[in-house]
Amino acid sequence: MVLTRDRLAADLRRLGVQTGDLLMIHSSLRSLGFVVGGAATVVDALLDVLGPTGTLVGPSFNYETALDPDFVFDPLNTPSDMGAIADEIRRRAGNQRSRHLTHSLSAIGPQAETIVAAGGPTAWAADDPLGTVFKLNGQFLLLGVTYQAFTACHVLEVAFRLHHRKLDTLRRRLREPTGRLVAFENTVYLRDVNYPGYDFNRLGQDMEDADITAVAPVGNAIARLVPARPMYEFATPRIKRDPDYLLEQGAGVTSLTRGTTLELPGGILSVVDPGAIFRPRPPT
Ligand SMILES: CC(C)(COP(=O)(O)OP(=O)(O)OC[C@H]1O[C@@H](n2cnc3c(N)ncnc32)[C@H](O)[C@@H]1OP(=O)(O)O)[C@@H](O)C(=O)NCCC(=O)NCCS
Repeated sequence: MVLTRDRLAADLRRLGVQTGDLLMIHSSLRSLGFVVGGAATVVDALLDVLGPTGTLVGPSFNYETALDPDFVFDPLNTPSDMGAIADEIRRRAGNQRSRHLTHSLSAIGPQAETIVAAGGPTAWAADDPLGTVFKLNGQFLLLGVTYQAFTACHVLEVAFRLHHRKLDTLRRRLREPTGRLVAFENTVYLRDVNYPGYDFNRLGQDMEDADITAVAPVGNAIARLVPARPMYEFATPRIKRDPDYLLEQGAGVTSLTRGTTLELPGGILSVVDPGAIFRPRPPT
């Protein structure tokens, strides 16, 4: 499968992405199949569909890199560790990035400033950038990945004060645009010692069964479009009934009925045909 910008844009529209949307994406480039022009083409296609009135948000997280006590967060240059498409969003001209040592967001479009300037105590509280995507009635796109990459579920964990999360303060340094290094700290949510791991696929599968999530192929990727507010309203009574709703229940993570889940050394993908993911040619 050879994917162009126009073909990607057509598939995204068929999924339900519309002009003017606020869209936050989690993605795998190789799940799509061969894309002419790679990650840049995918971001071009997303921006084509959203148009000048739409806003595109990517995770520019670096939670593993930030474990190094010598880590310096440079909002202008620190790459996103969340894949090639997320990093392409971060590198685009006009992008704005929130200030958080582990969970910054990069955004392009008219709502970008409102999102990245939002600043509460953590990355996941209601008044933080990710919580603001809920407030502004955004949507989440899982492109070739499962709900296990669905960071918005952490907003639910924080909102409902689930017992398996505890607060801590992370202290590192930040490089200002002038180049000056300054001490910087923010709040992070850690896992409690007895944390069994999360099963966000459980919420995801329940949302698919209830037709909250739109599911369709984009190239060879299974793409899932989740509206933020309906997701929140759907999850609320379930979490109130069962505070462990988002946790693994001992039998592993819930299997998704749509697409094939591929657990590769580099990440978990959700695809139409495992044989059609991008595979680099072996060196000759
Ligand atoms: C980890 C993860 C990013 C891996 O996905 P991936 O497709 O293997 O990696 P990327 O999206 O970075 O894309 C790079 C890969 O695309 C492939 N690729 C390169 N050129 C390509 C092209 N023109 N067309 C299609 N694929 C191409 C290559 O395999 C490349 O990997 P390589 O650089 O190791 O060779 C993905 O599984 C994932 O989890 N994404 C969500 C991350 C996230 O937002 N998490 C939220 C917090 S939990």
